[in-house]
Amino acid sequence: MNETRTDVENRVFLISGGTSGVGKAIATGLARLGAKVVIISRSAESGKAALKDISETTGNSRGDWVAADLSLQSSIREVSDMIKRKYDQLHVLVNACGAIYFKKELTAEGIDRMFAVNVLSHYLLTNRLLDMLQESGPARVVTVSGNPRFMKNPVINFEDIQMEHQYSGMRAANQSLFARTLFAFELAKRLEGTRVTSNAFHPGFVKSNLSRNAPWYLRLAAPLMNATVKAECGIGVYLTSAKEIEHANGVFFDDKKQIVPIQTKFDEGAGNKLWTLCEGLTS
Ligand SMILES: NC(=O)c1ccc[n+]([C@@H]2O[C@H](COP(=O)([O-])OP(=O)(O)OC[C@H]3O[C@@H](n4cnc5c(N)ncnc54)[C@H](OP(=O)(O)O)[C@@H]3O)[C@@H](O)[C@H]2O)c1
Repeated sequence: MNETRTDVENRVFLISGGTSGVGKAIATGLARLGAKVVIISRSAESGKAALKDISETTGNSRGDWVAADLSLQSSIREVSDMIKRKYDQLHVLVNACGAIYFKKELTAEGIDRMFAVNVLSHYLLTNRLLDMLQESGPARVVTVSGNPRFMKNPVINFEDIQMEHQYSGMRAANQSLFARTLFAFELAKRLEGTRVTSNAFHPGFVKSNLSRNAPWYLRLAAPLMNATVKAECGIGVYLTSAKEIEHANGVFFDDKKQIVPIQTKFDEGAGNKLWTLCEGLTS
């Protein structure tokens, strides 16, 4: 059965992480439906290259790019201002950028790089664009999460959220995944009664470049893994464009469109705690 879509061709979709992996897969799916897709790329070259691929694959050449280093708050502030100048409306924001750093790194602004990219970038970009989304409503914020099987006990150490003591790349990646998911739920609470919704989702296994900073033996395995997984993200396209879930808010969807009650796994008040922490780190 065909899904009923929102008026995709007349809506603007902004996708962070749109040059690769989940973000690019969603951008491609939406472009195939005729959407105006804007991707945030790290450089003009990578933005143009991704859009060329998307337009060759889909025949839709309406795509556009804006450049930002999303690990830096200064760059997020600049790009959000630019987006407001460049486009009249914004209907959907997809928070899909992400990275794994196996060794502890700090940004030039002194923030743990993985936390900056995987959590703070989504918090700050979304908040900077919320007024535009509200004005363009009904609008959606859709945030990439992970496999619900790995979220049975989503503990966040608020005392050391940037893992300054005993850094482990995998533990930090998991914690940032939990925090990003919690961010999507807390945003939903704060958006209740408005024309903007916020949901999180597991993309399934999608062709990815995530292992680029991994040790050599994991990088060697990446082409094999990529050969066996899809370059599409149906759930991402569904959440950004399906009419039937226009009012879904604060919901976690798995890659089969099933709702999974991940929200209940977080401590009461954890979302507010995370929000206050992100607010402090970005003010
Ligand atoms: N792929 C999967 O199967 C899968 C499954 C579950 C969850 N996820 C989650 O989805 C997220 C994205 O994974 P992915 O597989 O799409 O990874 P990916 O292929 O590496 O794509 C990551 C995207 O984020 C962008 N990005 C990273 N750091 C950035 C920065 N500082 N500034 C601007 N853009 C930046 C990358 O841009 P560049 O190309 O310029 O680096 C790229 O477009 C991750 O958090 C991952 O945990 C993925």
